[in-house]
Amino acid sequence: MATLRLVVMAQILAALAAAPAASQGPPGDDAGRTLFVQYCGACHGENGVGNGHLTSILSVQPVNLTVLKKERGSEYSLETLLRSIDGRGPFPGHTDSEMPVWGEVFLKDSSAPLENQVESAGKLLLITYYVDSIQKE
Ligand code: HEC
Repeated sequence: MATLRLVVMAQILAALAAAPAASQGPPGDDAGRTLFVQYCGACHGENGVGNGHLTSILSVQPVNLTVLKKERGSEYSLETLLRSIDGRGPFPGHTDSEMPVWGEVFLKDSSAPLENQVESAGKLLLITYYVDSIQKE
């Protein structure tokens, strides 16, 4: 009996030790990437470096989204990233932007307001986690 308990303990410890590695990616990584490619890829490029196929017709060039953390240092956070993607907050840099206001785009269909808000917030979060996950150190 004691041996069995030890074996179980060892297994739990092994699982815990392995956990950080397994959970290193942000939640919803794949869904986030799929949404990113769908909504952002045309301008920011599939890998977020700013080389989407629409860049030739944009007067303001999309930024390289993989260096936001590096460039902004302590001003970078998940929250500011989320807010700048949402675009509905007071962000002076975005007033004349060609960057769509995603918070509004995701909410467009208001036939089911509550579900819509949940879905829209979910998309914003998944995309935000994804953009955070592609930051270069
Ligand atoms: C129609 C082209 C276009 C699309 C599509 C687009 N962006 Fe942008 N984005 C831009 C441009 C242009 C900028 C450059 C700065 C500006 O205009 O504010 C930018 C800037 C940004 C910034 C930096 C904002 C800041 O705080 O300076 C983030 C973050 C960003 N985009 C994320 C996204 C995400 C995430 C998506 C998809 C949900 C997306 N963009 C889709 C054009 C686009």
